[in-house]
Amino acid sequence: MELQGKKIVVGVTGGIAAYKAVEIVSRLRKAGAEVHVIMTKEATEFVTELTFREISGQPVAVDMWEKVTHFNVEHIALAQLADLMLIAPATANIIAKAAVGIADDMLATTLLATKAPIFMAPAMNTNMYENPITQRNIAELKSRGFHIIEPAEGHLACGTSGKGRLPEPVDIVRIVSEALTSQELTGQDLTCQLTGQKILVTAGGTIEPLDPVRYIGNRSTGRMGYAVAEEAARRGADVVLVSGPTSLKDPDGVRVIRIETARQMREAVLQEFPTASAVIKSAAVADYRPAAVSEQKIKKSDDDLTLQLVRNPDILLELGQMKEHQVLVGFAAETCQVEEYARKKLAKKNLDFIVANDVSEADAGFGVETNRIKLIDRSGKMTPYPLMSKKELAGIILDHVSAALGKIDR
Ligand code: CTP
Repeated sequence: MELQGKKIVVGVTGGIAAYKAVEIVSRLRKAGAEVHVIMTKEATEFVTELTFREISGQPVAVDMWEKVTHFNVEHIALAQLADLMLIAPATANIIAKAAVGIADDMLATTLLATKAPIFMAPAMNTNMYENPITQRNIAELKSRGFHIIEPAEGHLACGTSGKGRLPEPVDIVRIVSEALTSQELTGQDLTCQLTGQKILVTAGGTIEPLDPVRYIGNRSTGRMGYAVAEEAARRGADVVLVSGPTSLKDPDGVRVIRIETARQMREAVLQEFPTASAVIKSAAVADYRPAAVSEQKIKKSDDDLTLQLVRNPDILLELGQMKEHQVLVGFAAETCQVEEYARKKLAKKNLDFIVANDVSEADAGFGVETNRIKLIDRSGKMTPYPLMSKKELAGIILDHVSAALGKIDR
């Protein structure tokens, strides 16, 4: 009963996925939450009010002007009692209304009146979802602090297939539960969570020179590692960031050591490692480097050119072999068999957990603001997360680091 004592207002709008909201409400209630449902008039065309009344065990609010209600000014009462509001499914219409502040029914009014965190799970036809107007409205809501639960891809009720499906109720409930039980939303101060801990973060890609003008590099931009470093500093940690070349500016309050090659990264990391409490190794380290670096620029000839590459040290593997009290976090950027490869790396490198992601997805991985990860820990437990900003993911990774640090007997 992890949600015991929590009050959740679930808004249901008029999309075919409204039926899935029944399971969401049921699961939230089983987890111990007190759930109040607000339906739009359109939602009642898909699922009856009675269904939600039975499932939630509470009156269902639809009409602002209904006489028989148990609250005086119901939209204000619901807005105030909510620890969290969840709109699932959220149609393009409610998204647009919320983005501009229209309050023409019970749900839209409550949304405007509440100070609780708001989670929205958009679900609609792919074209409607991808329409720049909807995307602009979603961006506006995100910038106002709304939490958007990304729709899943798959077969849609309109016969097409694409992005726009409501994620599975079990996933939505997990996201909401985690949010309600995480310190950020329970109002606990996170700023001191990592005080006294030295967190070593690596970020960006390493580059391996071939000659004075050329190098072998990779697509890593460093965004994920910089987000982790910044968030760790915000939580009070003493943060050292060992960074490959990037265009990002140094995060506030972080000691940044800039390096270029894998061997330079190794040197910096080994120097800092003995005094670190945790290492978050998000850098994309080159596994190979040219066997020889030409002192002069290599001139082309009419022949093909063969480069010989030699192995670079595997820094994380070394850390895993020498670790004492440190919490070790690795990353696995894969293009296929993501989970399988990640589990192998976790074991081989003796990690506490590994953050796995599929970099072949357009919205996750290199060069984008978002990421979709799976987190696998030593016990083998795998937790998938939906598409999130790298900043949000940094928070999740650091929550796990904090928990692991708390568990370690020192
Ligand atoms: N890593 C490292 N030193 C290396 C290579 C990788 O410390 N020489 C770290 C990365 O920072 C990351 C994790 O190890 O946390 C990635 O694991 P790895 O198996 O090395 O990934 P890839 O280099 O992508 O390996 P592969 O080509 O086997 O997929």
